[in-house]
Amino acid sequence: MSLDDRAFQRCISPACAATFGPEEVLTGCSRCGELLDIDYEWDRLEVPTRLSEFERAWSERRIPWQFSGVWRFRSLLPFVRAEQAATIGEGQTLLQQADRVGRFVGSNPGRLWLQYEGMNPSGSFKDNGMTAAISHAKAIGAKRAACASTGNTSASLALYAGMAAGMRSIIFIGSGKIAYGKLSQALDYGALTLQIAGDFDDAMARVQEVCHRLGIYLVNSVNPFRLEGQKTVMLRVLEGLGWEVPDWIVVPGGNLGNSSAFGKAFAELHRIGLIDRIPRLAVINASGARTLNELASERGLTWNGGNYDRGLVDRYYAELDASRSKASTIASAIEINRPVNLAKCLRALDVCDGVVREVTDQEILDAKAQVGAGGYGCEPASAASVAGAKRLRAEGVIGADERVVCILTGHLLKDPDVTVAYHSADQKRFEETLGVRGVRTASYANHAVAVGNDFDEIARAIQLYV
Ligand code: F0G
Repeated sequence: MSLDDRAFQRCISPACAATFGPEEVLTGCSRCGELLDIDYEWDRLEVPTRLSEFERAWSERRIPWQFSGVWRFRSLLPFVRAEQAATIGEGQTLLQQADRVGRFVGSNPGRLWLQYEGMNPSGSFKDNGMTAAISHAKAIGAKRAACASTGNTSASLALYAGMAAGMRSIIFIGSGKIAYGKLSQALDYGALTLQIAGDFDDAMARVQEVCHRLGIYLVNSVNPFRLEGQKTVMLRVLEGLGWEVPDWIVVPGGNLGNSSAFGKAFAELHRIGLIDRIPRLAVINASGARTLNELASERGLTWNGGNYDRGLVDRYYAELDASRSKASTIASAIEINRPVNLAKCLRALDVCDGVVREVTDQEILDAKAQVGAGGYGCEPASAASVAGAKRLRAEGVIGADERVVCILTGHLLKDPDVTVAYHSADQKRFEETLGVRGVRTASYANHAVAVGNDFDEIARAIQLYV
């Protein structure tokens, strides 16, 4: 066993605070049922005294775990021995200043950055967490790992289980929307793919039961080891800013793993004295999957020192059931009504003086086209961050001069159907292809121009459009 005895699991409820060893496979507190954190005996660890000390790892990039954008920050997630890490070079992502997208958002020049996590090996931010979860799974000798997914977690699991010798992956997808790019990955990487009757929320509930009863390792973000890896997205953001703290981090909210991990990262960095200020966090829902926004912004749900109003959450879910309300958005990755990390996200909002907003599918697709035209590209759910930043700028919550980092969570090629349909500028085709109404393709559509195979016609088109 290569687990570090200075790491342990702890229930996030301060009233319970039960602890468990790092070798235990748990997806919730066995005493009270709350979510679990990974914590460390920080005084027994060697942590850098300044963040810039991490730069030393760059000179050792020939070592696979030092090359990894996750494991080169290992001293802040030291639950496994570095040499045991299951890595394929995840986290080679770069913070990019994006003035063109910044203009769209309403930020002053030089104040908007994009962190494009679509550049990961499986094309989404999930690889940051999957390398951590699969490293833990390997360390405890798991042979089978499973997840429910709207597509990206499954692609990432299938990839990492494939590279970790002797591990098989089982994925649960709802029978509704899964982008083809993501499905093709799971199939090609050799995962057993179970398409169950129901949506993501149904698949999530079922996979937890199946893993529990059949002893299969669960890698959804209720797995606290996975979220340790996702903390490093924030470390790379700080690195990109010369170790300075931005004013805002803006992130799409689905199952709320990212926002939870980001909040934990900043809380820890602050606690161990590596940063002196915590950025504000904005979590952006799609209007068709707006549980967090409804609960946190409309009904006043807060972390409240860990004593959050569970009754309020239960009542809201009962209302969803009574009205048979299902999540529905073109941003299929975040089409989730029962986010499993809700409690941790409330804590992150508390730590980061956070805000929550929702954006429409129209705002998401228009923002996505601007991210594409700006030279980056992303899948629909990712663009919720940019659309959310624009909204918060318009409201004056984010200032024009504040330093804003939007997280682009997934690669443009994950969901080509939505992209092509949007740019077709043919409203009927758009609605038919995607089965949506009420979203107009037109705003920033860049449709293909039909020309004959004729020099003059082609020259005329070039003159007209470029
Ligand atoms: N963006 C993308 C591209 C995603 O795939 C997801 C989640 C999110 C944002 C939301 O992140 O859950 O941390 O709030 N996708 C999961 C999946 C649910 O199954 O791939 P979150």
